[in-house]
Amino acid sequence: MEIAIIGSGYVGLVTGVCLAHIGHTVTCVDNNPEKVRKLKAGEVPIYEPGLEPLMHKYSKMKRLNFSSSIEAATKKATVIFIAVGTPSKKNGDADLTYIENVARAIARNMDSYKLLVEKSTVPVQTGNRIERTVALNLPAKFRRGNKCLVEFDVASNPEFLREGSAVEDFMNPDRIVIGVKSRRAEQLLREVYAPLKARLVVTNVATAEMIKHASNSFLATKISFINSVAQICDRVGADVLSVAEGMGYDRRIGRAFLNAGIGYGGSCFPKDVDAFVRLAEKSGYDFKLLKGVRDVNEQQKASFIHLIEDKLWIIKDKTIAIWGLAFKADTDDMRRAASIDIIQALQEEGARVQAFDPKAMDNARHELKGVKFCADAYAAAKGADCLLVLTEWEEFKRLDLKRVRGLLRQAVVFDGRNFFDDKLFVDLGFEYHGIGRGRGAHAS
Ligand code: NAD
Ligand code: UDX
Repeated sequence: MEIAIIGSGYVGLVTGVCLAHIGHTVTCVDNNPEKVRKLKAGEVPIYEPGLEPLMHKYSKMKRLNFSSSIEAATKKATVIFIAVGTPSKKNGDADLTYIENVARAIARNMDSYKLLVEKSTVPVQTGNRIERTVALNLPAKFRRGNKCLVEFDVASNPEFLREGSAVEDFMNPDRIVIGVKSRRAEQLLREVYAPLKARLVVTNVATAEMIKHASNSFLATKISFINSVAQICDRVGADVLSVAEGMGYDRRIGRAFLNAGIGYGGSCFPKDVDAFVRLAEKSGYDFKLLKGVRDVNEQQKASFIHLIEDKLWIIKDKTIAIWGLAFKADTDDMRRAASIDIIQALQEEGARVQAFDPKAMDNARHELKGVKFCADAYAAAKGADCLLVLTEWEEFKRLDLKRVRGLLRQAVVFDGRNFFDDKLFVDLGFEYHGIGRGRGAHAS
């Protein structure tokens, strides 16, 4: 099939590469000329495990092409995925400017049947908006009064991939959700995904959009729930890791997304929870549960900072080592990373921060000022009064902790991800503080 993807970021590029991998011919479009130049030159602008070799393979075979022209891509393809950003506005609403721009541009270049597919995460009802926008922007020859003289469909196909395992998630999805209004659209999307042999959930457009809202918000709820449990664990001497394990064996609950830590970050959960709260508000429902989820997430960062203040005493002029800046491991993405809020709060109190992240330092330089970015994890630890583990990079587990102990001025570690076995540190004479491990600030 001839497919176009508009927006070649984390989702669009992975989608394009994976659709080429399963046999389609794909054009990935982006309006950022620098990004398109890099992609054409074979440079992958993001870090995503497994993406680069596939991108090179299918670019060479010409099954994967890059372009800055929506016009050409629209003319060539029948199925057009929209994968542009839908960032938060100040009031929490999703900003759909990029979606509208793309819908207009596609409409203006339509000359035959097209299926426009929402891949971006959008508020429920956006499908209707896109449909209207396309109808209003068709070339004059294809419009008579309210009638469109060229057929098109708008479908919803929300994406559930996670950064850091995006290729794997795309190729082996738990389910593929397809929201359609016509048999034709359903058939086309079934054809697109047939090689994956995945479970399909076929429904109407609004329901598919709602599945995405509900899924992301539910996962965020799981995280805030376990973070709240962790708070109590610290106060009563229970261990949240064992609590999560004990809960997780119950198949009705499951162990996934019960890792307590410094709160969820990234480009999706914070914005998608905000957008769902706003959508509920506009529909006349006060989504108190989800507001609570958001509050707990903010508190979690604040409580981590309080723990550091409590144990370090004076923050001013202390040197703080940071291992990990990305919002999670295996990505270079810094969008809404918890590390940003934590580092900025400590800097405001006068701390000096020296940090290392295996992949996210280039992006972090744009987000964080006054941080000393170090060549490796040892350099970050050198002379510091404590060490903060903010991202769970597997390679940190291979570090020589004895050497780290010798480099730190004070052997105090705050593990914001409960990533390390606390005994490893304690046996080496470190003071170790995890999240909800029952030995935290308030443990009896
Ligand atoms: P991104 O910012 O990495 O990529 C968006 C791309 O769209 C950018 O490269 C931008 O230049 C391009 N773009 C913007 N306007 C354009 C236009 N008019 N024409 C062509 N290109 C244009 O964003 P992302 O992380 O890939 O997210 C995209 C959407 O997918 C969002 O709605 C997001 O919520 C959703 N989503 C993201 C993830 C994720 O893990 N990142 C997962 C599921 C869903
Ligand atoms: C998320 C959704 O999982 C994915 O389905 C959707 O398509 C995009 O948004 P992503 O943001 O890439 O994916 O990463 P995810 O693994 O979900 O983690 C999000 C945040 O939650 C990270 O900051 C992570 O550290 C945090 N998290 C995750 C926890 O704090 N605890 C957990 O148990 C799981």
